Amino acid sequence: MKQLPIIFALFGYDDLAKNIAGQLNYEIGNISLHQFPDDEVVVRINSHVADREVIFVASLDRPNPKILPLLFASQTAKRLGASKITLIAPYLAYMRQDMEFHAGEGISSQYFAKLISNYFDKLITIDPHLHRLHDLNQIYSIPTTVLHATDNISAWIQANIKNRVLIGPDMESVQWVEEIAHKSKSPYLILEKLRKSDTEVEISNPNLDEYRTATPILVDDIISTAMTMVETVRHLKSIKMKSPVCIGVHAVFANNAYQDLINSGVYSIVTCNTIKHPSNKIDVSNIIIGKIHNIG
Ligand code: R5P
Repeated sequence: MKQLPIIFALFGYDDLAKNIAGQLNYEIGNISLHQFPDDEVVVRINSHVADREVIFVASLDRPNPKILPLLFASQTAKRLGASKITLIAPYLAYMRQDMEFHAGEGISSQYFAKLISNYFDKLITIDPHLHRLHDLNQIYSIPTTVLHATDNISAWIQANIKNRVLIGPDMESVQWVEEIAHKSKSPYLILEKLRKSDTEVEISNPNLDEYRTATPILVDDIISTAMTMVETVRHLKSIKMKSPVCIGVHAVFANNAYQDLINSGVYSIVTCNTIKHPSNKIDVSNIIIGKIHNIG
């Protein structure tokens, strides 16, 4: 009889792995990463993986220190006879550098996709930053499944904020904002953003007169430096709107970004648990479990 898949958590994603394993009756695998004094790393898999599908759960924010251990984990499972190796990466890194913005730059999203495609047989992720690219399979050569947090975000909004208007800080957010607005039966507006540098953005001044009594809800996929959100909050406050709720799918929060956003005078900050963070209020494990259950 074919054995059920075995699931391994990497980089602290034990809760998500346990949740998936518990619901689907999968075994939780035992894996250790040992770091030598010279920073090299060895992966050890202490569970039986031969002839089984192996699933690794690892969100890929702050990817550089994770990538070699991740690839080594996959190779170790393969060497031990795993029949198929799936990566569940709730946050998929390196999706924003999807073109040569300045002459001579690398196109990191393509190189990262090639690397992951060489080491895994399948990828499952949530709301990757698809803007200029429309499908992960334009750069990934393995089967990919893209899940969306929009139902979970819409349900949270409906349960928590009554009189509201959804605001997308830029055209890249339109795909999330439009759908969440539709699902949560909320009005919405999309602003215009000019990114001046890695840490500086300028937001257009919107006409929000008719929404002055509503709670603005800013929605974006990634909150990284938080400058997009901070500048939008500043504009809303300068035109005397109420303090907004900021919702991000992926709580990257580089350096002091979380504190900067709190200091900008938001009403609250809400994120999905695709990346572990104190702002996580929307659990998205059900969409991963539902998908694996349907295709498993
Ligand atoms: C745009 O490309 C994305 O959808 C987000 O707006 C962006 O990643 C946010 O970045 P930051 O938090 O650094 O302003």
